Amino acid sequence: MINIEPSKNLVKLPSYLFTTIDKSKREAYDKNLDVIDLGMGNPDLPTPDHIVDRLCDTVKHHHNTHRYPQAKGMPKFRKVITKWMEKRFGVTLDSENEVLALIGSKEGIGHLCMSYLDPGDYVLIGDPSYPVYFNGALLAGARIHFMPLLEEKSFLPDFTKIPEEIAQKAKIMFLNYPNNPTAAVVEDNNFWKEAIKFCKKYNILLISDNAYSELTFGSYKASSIFEFPGAKDVALEFYSFSKTFNMAGWRLGWVCGAKKLIYPIEKFKSFLDYGSPTFMQLAGVAALSEEQNCVREIAAIYEKRMKNMSSGLRKIGWRARETKGTMYIWVGLPDCLIKDGSIAIAERLIKETGVVVSPGRAFGEHGEGYVRMSLVTHNRRFHDALLRISKFTKMYKI
Ligand SMILES: Cc1ncc(COP(=O)(O)O)c(C=O)c1O
Repeated sequence: MINIEPSKNLVKLPSYLFTTIDKSKREAYDKNLDVIDLGMGNPDLPTPDHIVDRLCDTVKHHHNTHRYPQAKGMPKFRKVITKWMEKRFGVTLDSENEVLALIGSKEGIGHLCMSYLDPGDYVLIGDPSYPVYFNGALLAGARIHFMPLLEEKSFLPDFTKIPEEIAQKAKIMFLNYPNNPTAAVVEDNNFWKEAIKFCKKYNILLISDNAYSELTFGSYKASSIFEFPGAKDVALEFYSFSKTFNMAGWRLGWVCGAKKLIYPIEKFKSFLDYGSPTFMQLAGVAALSEEQNCVREIAAIYEKRMKNMSSGLRKIGWRARETKGTMYIWVGLPDCLIKDGSIAIAERLIKETGVVVSPGRAFGEHGEGYVRMSLVTHNRRFHDALLRISKFTKMYKI
């Protein structure tokens, strides 16, 4: 066998969080433990029928859709996106130049890093955050400045704490609200205005990852960055069908913003992929152009799960807030467990109870002391999970 090393950038990446958790999960299955998986943000509910029907019909009856797709997205797909953005946020985009189809937003975020970053560039990323931001930046050879997301600051970054010399060298800032993993939302739109002002001042590309824009509760509604003056000059916004329509396995999303800012990603992707299949894009058309009742139903299910699970956890001494969006709860460990650290607790929970959660530390240094629970199992299983976590907690109190 030849002795050949993978690239240095790849080797220096820590092993992907979900790979480590998956290993413990597989061991639990091997031991015939009854696993309740609240680990990955992988929706358990089915894709709405009208979207599935559109896919089946298209694949069966329109064989042209079996050919290579239009990589930047077919015009119909891009037009439906701009109509949806207009209706949902009152934001006007040019479907020809300001929307790019993605094979899921994770793909787009990874390729954004490759398209924009050179070794030594700085990227500003929340801590904790969705791991693809820092993994994508590291793969591109960039350096990272983490912006702490602290509970006492409502998990929003403080732009005034970014050192001047880092701001001068920064090329990209990632923001993601409603937020994974903290489930925080932006309540005061001055935050977005400040972010735009900061990025304009320092010539930084502002990325708003709006993967959870539709999963919000009660009267709270998430914004698009393009609702705020000047955003088009500095920002790109990423969207995903995965959570909004329970289409995580379908791999479909988009990025939108000014032509000049999108074009490098389109160019980069043109060398590597052919885009999302045409039949997927047409299913996306069905998803966005029909009434959005299904989305409201999906959000209502997560809201109910969030309320049940967070109140149950509070009763047994875990710090679980009620949230206004996402499919996660970000739970502070009780005093009797906190000293062991979130990774050890997550491992023990799997081994001793079969309940899978994601350790907060895996999302960044400031994630320590927390675990993330994804609300992705059948309603009645949450009750079982709470009983097991309660028993586990009592054992460690002794
Ligand atoms: C904040 C955030 N952005 C993007 C993604 C990726 O979504 P997609 O399935 O569209 O690649 C996720 C998935 O969990 C996420 O949490």
